[in-house]
Amino acid sequence: MSNTDERRAELEAIAQEVHACTRCPLHQSRTNAVPGSGPVTAEIMFIGEGPGFYEDQQGLPFVGASGKFLDELLQGVGLERRDVYITNVVKCRPPGNRDPRPDEIEACAGYLDRQIELIDPKMIITLGRFSMAKWFPNGRITQIHGQARKIGGRLYMPMFHPAAALRNPKLRPEVEADFSKIPELLKEMANLRDDAPPDQAQQLSLF
Ligand code: URA
Ligand code: SF4
Repeated sequence: MSNTDERRAELEAIAQEVHACTRCPLHQSRTNAVPGSGPVTAEIMFIGEGPGFYEDQQGLPFVGASGKFLDELLQGVGLERRDVYITNVVKCRPPGNRDPRPDEIEACAGYLDRQIELIDPKMIITLGRFSMAKWFPNGRITQIHGQARKIGGRLYMPMFHPAAALRNPKLRPEVEADFSKIPELLKEMANLRDDAPPDQAQQLSLF
């Protein structure tokens, strides 16, 4: 079995654990847990907040209005959903789409951490404040959106949640501008990982 096959099998094993998980109270009200979707080889990982109504119904992330907008944004930069991995900080829907609670995020964090370790994406894009807080605990989205930070050989970029841009159309151009940076950032990350000695990291123009 190739290394990729093993990683894919492990990602699937995490999903099975999530489907059976009772680690926090959100398991009581879920229809389906939503572990995440996408290839284990994805270079980009998007992390949202938590499943909403349609995600809970279908067991898939970002399939409602926000997901449709996310698909459009991806297409705008030549990407498709099957190119990226998409998940959330909590894998079960908070009742009535309320915010996930700190204890729920904490209970669920092990799944997300294992997914990140397995997929090992070049770039993590946070959608909304709960995933942003994991890497930018004091960040304010209005100030730091679209700014990629390199931490430990990986890029982290906070973005507005697509639902915020749907609620407030003035944010749309900002979200599109943030997305437009993705291809070039990925290219620079690929060079950095594959052949640049560590001391060239400082010379990258985009960081
Ligand atoms: N909003 C999220 O944060 N995640 C989803 O999966 C859907 C909507
Ligand atoms: Fe388990 Fe996470 Fe679902 Fe809570 S939200 S029951 S920790 S999978």
